[in-house]
Amino acid sequence: MSKLIIDTDPGIDDSMAIQLALASKEFEILGLTTVFGNINVELATINALRLLQLANKVEIPVAKGASKPLKSEFSGGVPFVHGDDGQGNTWQPPGCLSPISTPADEFLIEQVLKFPKQVTIAALGPLTNLAIALSKEPEIQKLVKEIVFMGGNAFCSGNATPAAEANMFSDPDAADLVLGAKWPITMIGLDVTHKTIISKEALEKISEFDSPLNNHITKAYQFYLDFFRRVNKIDGTYVHDASVFTYLIDRTLYKTVTYPIRVETQDCLSKGKTWPSLGDADHEEGEALQPWKNRPKVTICVDVNSEKVIALMQKRLTKG
Ligand code: RIB
Ligand code: CA
Repeated sequence: MSKLIIDTDPGIDDSMAIQLALASKEFEILGLTTVFGNINVELATINALRLLQLANKVEIPVAKGASKPLKSEFSGGVPFVHGDDGQGNTWQPPGCLSPISTPADEFLIEQVLKFPKQVTIAALGPLTNLAIALSKEPEIQKLVKEIVFMGGNAFCSGNATPAAEANMFSDPDAADLVLGAKWPITMIGLDVTHKTIISKEALEKISEFDSPLNNHITKAYQFYLDFFRRVNKIDGTYVHDASVFTYLIDRTLYKTVTYPIRVETQDCLSKGKTWPSLGDADHEEGEALQPWKNRPKVTICVDVNSEKVIALMQKRLTKG
């Protein structure tokens, strides 16, 4: 069983990912940390608390995190994707739980120091909390078991822009810092989540499972389905955040490569793009390769057995 912290901006797909993690015996969830992204961090925190209450997991702490990127202002989120409430405009009443007083970055540091080499951090939103924790306590890069994050696009186009994936686009400075640290880190990017589609039929099967959490997520998911039908012309949705947990549950479902990565931080056409250095640039070891020089290698998921991923999700999400 892995000790796990989920850093999240719930978000409809975050909610299904959290549901999957809660239903999986592989994880001992130490806490949730919230971050701006799909919505503001206040709503992300309310949503995270409500999910845990619906799941009757009220003992799991929620630590509120960053409200904006490291070097800019919060851009307002993506209500057209996740609803104004981040839960498909279901506007459920807030639960009765409150976040702990410890901020997210300090919670991450505290838990990694308390359980050296045992804590896995699953990051499902912008990497701002991890960047702040790293700058406050650089030792955590040696003491965390591993980081697995949903974000980036190594060899495919983006979704926030043609160049960049949403979580990296939301805070490219944080992403570049996190991907430059010397901790074991794996990228679950659009390279595999755009190959993993959960169909309307599969979602209908999952919706038959009767539980307060599943019933809520089924309702919220209708908004997400409508977005994908309207914009991506698919009768289902990509599986973004939940892919972090299907990877952690069964790594054999994914093919990986390892390369140093830089993230475009300039406010330009390719802001937020994750650029792997394939090391085969056709020029001398000159200035051009310097930005990637001495950067640690990142494990990048580049292919996936999506059928088995969907089957795994269906199995886990339809049991108590
Ligand atoms: O690009 C998809 C990612 O951005 C997911 O984490 C989704 O929840 C949004 O945060
Ligand atoms: Ca997310």
